[in-house]
Amino acid sequence: MAEDLKIIKGTKEEQYQELIPQIKALMEGESDLIANLGNICAALKEQFDWLWVGFYLVKDDELVLGPFQGPVACTRIKMGRGVCGTVWQEKKTYIVPNVEEFPGHIACSSVSKSEIVIPVFRGEEVVGVFDIDSAELSSFDTVDQRYLEGLVSTIEV
Ligand code: SME
Repeated sequence: MAEDLKIIKGTKEEQYQELIPQIKALMEGESDLIANLGNICAALKEQFDWLWVGFYLVKDDELVLGPFQGPVACTRIKMGRGVCGTVWQEKKTYIVPNVEEFPGHIACSSVSKSEIVIPVFRGEEVVGVFDIDSAELSSFDTVDQRYLEGLVSTIEV
């Protein structure tokens, strides 16, 4: 089945407003988590052309690399390590305008300059994180946070 994404021009807010319903439509009727996470990454990467868009999923006592789009990445992150491990521990979204200024940042790619990481919850428990990296400084703000947290909250994990 062909699934074409309609790419939107306009403000960031307009882009999210048009894109999120398309992503939700792709997830509707699909119960497989990995399939849905894969399409979320692909759709956001296609629309915004960020450097790296992907999920890490909690397995035992580590975050393990899940579906993603972008350059190869480190596969395992401990709780409290880097931005992703901090988000897992603190259970809240982090916006990092300059990754070089984040203590303990894990540099999977030297091209990455800023990032946003959102916790993925099952009830009260963090079961993964959604990590987006940009090759430009200060790419993410509370608009991204609002739309991405809203999207992540609809994933059936
Ligand atoms: N930047 C992350 C590591 C994951 S990669 O960027 C894909 C961090 O410090 O948690």
